[in-house]
Amino acid sequence: MNWYDEANYIRKQAMKNNEFFANSLPMIASENVLSPMCREMLVTDFHGRYAEGTPGHRYYEGCRFFDNVEEKAMELAKKLFNCSYADVRPTAGTTANIGVLKALIKPGETATVLDLANGAHISFGKWGGAGVRGINLISYPFNDEEMNIDVDGAVKLIKKEKPKLALNGRSVFLFPSPIKEIAEAAHDVGAYMVYDAAHVLGLIAGGQFQDPLHEGADVMNGSTHKTLPGPQGGMVLSDHKGDTDEDKSFLRKLSFGIFPGVTSSYHLHHVAAKAIAYAEHLEFGEAYAKQTIKNAQAFGQSLCEQGFNVFGEKLGFTKSHQILLAIGPGKGKEASKKLEDAGIVTNMNTIPGDKDPMNPSGLRLGTPELTRIGMKEKEMEDVAEFYARALLKNDDTKKIKADVKEFRKDFQELHYCFKEGFRGYDFHKLI
Ligand SMILES: Cc1ncc(COP(=O)(O)O)c(C=O)c1O
Repeated sequence: MNWYDEANYIRKQAMKNNEFFANSLPMIASENVLSPMCREMLVTDFHGRYAEGTPGHRYYEGCRFFDNVEEKAMELAKKLFNCSYADVRPTAGTTANIGVLKALIKPGETATVLDLANGAHISFGKWGGAGVRGINLISYPFNDEEMNIDVDGAVKLIKKEKPKLALNGRSVFLFPSPIKEIAEAAHDVGAYMVYDAAHVLGLIAGGQFQDPLHEGADVMNGSTHKTLPGPQGGMVLSDHKGDTDEDKSFLRKLSFGIFPGVTSSYHLHHVAAKAIAYAEHLEFGEAYAKQTIKNAQAFGQSLCEQGFNVFGEKLGFTKSHQILLAIGPGKGKEASKKLEDAGIVTNMNTIPGDKDPMNPSGLRLGTPELTRIGMKEKEMEDVAEFYARALLKNDDTKKIKADVKEFRKDFQELHYCFKEGFRGYDFHKLI
């Protein structure tokens, strides 16, 4: 066996993957591309280092420069979300969620949640993080028409069940959640409210989506690589000030939940890249979030005009970066495969009424990446036409793929990020 060839095989896959994505329309709602300045951090010496603890209180020496990085990352994160507590150490949104569960609820205690079938994420489900923590989960009632939590039902449920935590997190997130009402009900029964903003973090930071920490949520978790286009990672935020003993203890528990709760080394190169992503979002986030949502709304409208069955038509399709499409009973997988053959990357998704997550009837579509590469409302019409050719008119997928490649030629530059010093940088190249 030639081990060099084996290693090189991996490199070639990465190059082919870069080429594939550079010529496609990437529309998975949870994905994005990294700016050159963030990317640079991923190959720095921070990559191989350890920094357990907090700045100035380390178990390892050699952290003097990283301490500055982590301090700055926390400072920028607090500024970005206008809050008083930021933990930038979680290595993923899932890690942030499990860390917060570790901090705020004990095995056997109850949390109220959204059902997976209604768009929640597995990290707050019994097969994921909540199950790992052994939590008793009770689901909020859901309003299919409005694609949202049934507010009155949720408030009643919280008052009756008196959970320790009222959770709210969504992977299908078309419209804002009724945070104020849920948080009030939670606080009335002595519970905390946790909002998982994994998907919508960048929209919130850009001031274009509901602001959970200022509507009553005690904690907001998120991923740092979705609508907030930083490196893969997570974060925990709160606007609790720690100004009473009880509140100090709350924040100490939150911190302890992340380290030593669910991290050891927390990927220092990613923390450095997160800090840069926060700075980029402070500069460009508002414009980026606005355009991302405008694009999603325009895309929903165009798909509808092409004859697709798009959710939320009466409510303007979406107030986020996502669109949910009903494709036909059990036909989601087939549709997403066909789109991939045509150079459009999406994912199948359950829609209200679906029972089998492996054979769902919908597609979830997102505009964050197309927006990053400079597309606007006009291009959303063109993209909707590619969908119609693939899924409604049964055009040859090879022909569509060639047309998608041609269309994508004008969109090879990354926007909404710092480019000084990176002229000529090609974000599709390996390094
Ligand atoms: C609502 C929600 N929470 C958490 C996660 C997990 O995030 P990560 O992939 O960063 O672990 C996701 C992933 O898409 C999500 O949609």
